[in-house]
Amino acid sequence: MELPAKRGPGHYRVAIVCLGNICRSPMAQVVLTDRLDKAGLTGEVVVDSSGTGDWHVGGPMDERAAATLFLNGYDGSAHRAAQYTAERTGEHDLVLAMDAANFADLLALGVGDRLRMFRDFDPDGPGDVPDPYYGGADGFERVLGMVERTADALATSLEHRS
Ligand code: 4NP
Repeated sequence: MELPAKRGPGHYRVAIVCLGNICRSPMAQVVLTDRLDKAGLTGEVVVDSSGTGDWHVGGPMDERAAATLFLNGYDGSAHRAAQYTAERTGEHDLVLAMDAANFADLLALGVGDRLRMFRDFDPDGPGDVPDPYYGGADGFERVLGMVERTADALATSLEHRS
């Protein structure tokens, strides 16, 4: 999967976007940042996350998402939810949507050709990262599994970015 070119000087900027920015995209931000650090790309590639909705802006991660991360060796405690708005479409080199609805919402906001599905980088094949918000704890474990294997592949792509 081809990565969009860097649009300006400085680091390569990646946005990960879901609906509420308290479950899927912050989990993916924490895991991808971990993989980039391990690949020696700290500061060269910078990841943030946001949601198309504004309900949780300023708040912490969903406690089930934070617990799933913690039980697997990650720290999600620094997260504060943010919204992705039309004013932000020039901020990032790559914008990753967690599901098809997020993708459609981001297209409508004007993200354009920098938009990809997060799981376009999943070695097990593309698809949605399903929203775990209204389900049980197993949904968060499933999300983490998808996010970990996709973040591994994405970090490799970012490392070998031309
Ligand atoms: P996320 O999950 O998009 O993975 O953060 C959701 C969180 C909150 C809501 C929906 C999805 N909500 O409707 O408040």
